[in-house]
Amino acid sequence: MASSLHYCSLFSFMILLSLSLNAALLPSLAALTYHGGPLLTGNVNLLVIWYGQFGKVQKNAIRAFIKSLNYDGGLNLQPQVSFWWDMVESYQLAAGKKGGSIAVKVVKTVVDANCSASKNLTADNVSSIFKKAVGKDIDVVPVLFSARDVAVQGLCMEKCSEHGLYGGKQPTIVVGNPESECPGECAWPFHKTNHGPQGMTLQPPSGNVGADAMVVAFASSLVDLVTNPFSTGFYQGQQANPIEASSACKRIFGSGAFEGYTGKLRVDPSNGGAFNTHGVEGRKFLLPAIWNPKTSSCWTLL
Ligand SMILES: *[C@@H]1O[C@H](CO)[C@@H](O)[C@H](O)[C@H]1NC(C)=O
Ligand SMILES: *[C@@H]1O[C@H](CO)[C@@H](O)[C@H](O)[C@H]1NC(C)=O
Ligand SMILES: *[C@@H]1O[C@H](CO)[C@@H](O)[C@H](O)[C@H]1NC(C)=O
Repeated sequence: MASSLHYCSLFSFMILLSLSLNAALLPSLAALTYHGGPLLTGNVNLLVIWYGQFGKVQKNAIRAFIKSLNYDGGLNLQPQVSFWWDMVESYQLAAGKKGGSIAVKVVKTVVDANCSASKNLTADNVSSIFKKAVGKDIDVVPVLFSARDVAVQGLCMEKCSEHGLYGGKQPTIVVGNPESECPGECAWPFHKTNHGPQGMTLQPPSGNVGADAMVVAFASSLVDLVTNPFSTGFYQGQQANPIEASSACKRIFGSGAFEGYTGKLRVDPSNGGAFNTHGVEGRKFLLPAIWNPKTSSCWTLL
């Protein structure tokens, strides 16, 4: 009896020790905690705003990514985007709520090819674009994609897209376009990075750096938006400047990632594109890691 107690406490001592060692080595991996507020569930209806002039390649890649979130392409195309999305859906259970699928679709599209507000968007400009696009549709999530020649104030530094609230209650996303705006900040691994070790730059799976960098940026903000839509969901740190489900795992795309190295990926033999998921229409995407609330670590597809 005494000896089993002894082993037992030795065992828990070792667990505590290894937990604290992990925490010491990986300070950014302190767990995200749930703050009790709502997550997005059920239907997430996007209002897509194309702000400025976009080529077909960029629009098609982003549209196909959205369609892929709830698409099951069968067993021979693994892993799939919908499997990546399952991780986001699992946050409902992690919050102690009933789980369920989250259906994302585009319900409205607005085109502002002439950049009616400005080519250097302030927060005020973004609000007025949202106001015009949203009208009376309170049940949509406006997502502004900016064209290559549009600068968005607040993006580039630290983040390449962001989610917020319009009118204090309607979740929104703004996505920068790193094809020419700050590629060194926002287009890695498809462009040389301005941070730390260069590592290798990789071919984008769609063939267009801006398209795939925007997919990564939008995918990250979508994860953060669904899991922390009102700043009362899952995050770590300060409410005003939170580390969220995707931003906790920034610059990680596959297992074994470290600074300057994406981690394990696949290469498309047809065009050399680096990818880790399959989606609709035979498309391939490189999607970022997501914080796994069950294991408290960054989760990747490969
Ligand atoms: C955009 O600008 C062009 C050239 O100035 C003009 O011909 C066109 O009508 C404008 N489009 C819209 C929707 O305002
Ligand atoms: C864009 O924002 C600037 C600064 O807030 C403001 O002066 C300008 O009027 C805005 N333009 C439009 C069209 O909203
Ligand atoms: C955009 O506006 C900000 C502040 O109004 C200014 O500091 C910045 O230089 C402008 N950027 C461009 C590309 O015009």
